[in-house]
Amino acid sequence: MNHLEIRPIRKLDAEFSVPGDKSISHRGIMLGGIAAGTTRLRGFLPGEDCLSTLHALQALGCRIDRVSPDEVLIEGRGAKLLAPAEPIDCGNSGTTMRLLAGVVAGYPFTTRLFGDASLSRRPMARVADPLRKFGANLVCEGPEDRPPLAIRGTPLKAIDFTSQVASAQVKSCVLLAALHATGKTTFTEPSLSRDHTERLLPAFGASFRTEKKSLILHGPQRLEGTELDVPGDFSSAAFWLVLAAGLPGSRLTLRKVGLNPTRTALISALLRMGAGIMEKVEQPTPEPMGTITVMGGERLKATPVAGKEIPNLIDEIPILAVAAALAEGTTEIRDASELRHKESDRLAVITKNLRLFGVPVEEKPDGLLIEGGCPLVGAEVDSHGDHRIAMSAAILGLLAKGKTVVKDTSCIETSYPGFAKQIALIQELGR
Ligand code: S3P
Repeated sequence: MNHLEIRPIRKLDAEFSVPGDKSISHRGIMLGGIAAGTTRLRGFLPGEDCLSTLHALQALGCRIDRVSPDEVLIEGRGAKLLAPAEPIDCGNSGTTMRLLAGVVAGYPFTTRLFGDASLSRRPMARVADPLRKFGANLVCEGPEDRPPLAIRGTPLKAIDFTSQVASAQVKSCVLLAALHATGKTTFTEPSLSRDHTERLLPAFGASFRTEKKSLILHGPQRLEGTELDVPGDFSSAAFWLVLAAGLPGSRLTLRKVGLNPTRTALISALLRMGAGIMEKVEQPTPEPMGTITVMGGERLKATPVAGKEIPNLIDEIPILAVAAALAEGTTEIRDASELRHKESDRLAVITKNLRLFGVPVEEKPDGLLIEGGCPLVGAEVDSHGDHRIAMSAAILGLLAKGKTVVKDTSCIETSYPGFAKQIALIQELGR
């Protein structure tokens, strides 16, 4: 089992880029796989989660060539996927399982999707319900609507569906199934979740419209292959943003980062906390991409984070909690009960780990109360098999006094290959 040993740094003065966006890489592979013709993805994230998606589309008959570690060529099957010979392993990736369920629901064959222990604990009723409404025969074989999933595809009929959660995975599952369904599908969510699928569909030649808070897509639709530049993953950049914002005198420039506003609410929260951050969009479509600069200055101040902001920083809450630990005052995070259904129960695990670093935290059913400003002491902590928990603990280690050990860090490979090397470099330069 891998681990990371971390010593505190005094400063951060760096310029680099982060690996490709995970959400966009998944979608690029899936849309490329069902499109006619060739799709080229540059800046693809070669992390384990996206490789699960890549192998899944290969199992469904697509030819996919790895031109280089971060460039792939997909020969799309033009809506003619083949029955997989075996159950498909989605690994640790909820995005793979939930989106793929929407992809295969309209095909005349049975697909079984399974995952690792963490994915096997994640709720699937949120995608099973709309897919059954479309007419697919879907069984959640685990207890309480958990994986594995067995999906017997059928010709789908369009649906009108309102999701109870603001989840881009649910939205994307429905839109992917709607591409194969006959008629007008209407999808509504309680507040706007990340909109990568909506931005990518037109790039593949698909059309839909927005009416008030609903998306309307008429099916069936054929997609055409395309070329895409995948920006760096904002969720990976987030670790370094908080580190730089929390270290007085630091300077950080991150280039070619995704700046999709449905992903960057962490920047707004950090600005309210008094951080010196600037973002500049250099390429607006199909996905905004540009440069972020951070100047570490004044001590951060607590700010409340709740409501519609939550879906737009949902993956950043583990690292936002690190910023809260540094900030003067008590940070209240609310409306975030979705965090209990991620790769770990993140509310429980953040509480446990922050306390080991000496931070007073109160765990609430839907959030956290974090008292910032206490001295951080290095600790031995567990990742609980969750990549974002592992990386957040590593950043705490760079900011805390003494030695930190983060145990079970192999999960970082799901989203950020090269993170350990980057940490080693930053420690070397920042001593
Ligand atoms: C994702 C959506 C989010 C996010 C996940 C990736 C996506 O999940 O937490 O890491 O790519 O659609 P939910 O849709 O469950 O909020």
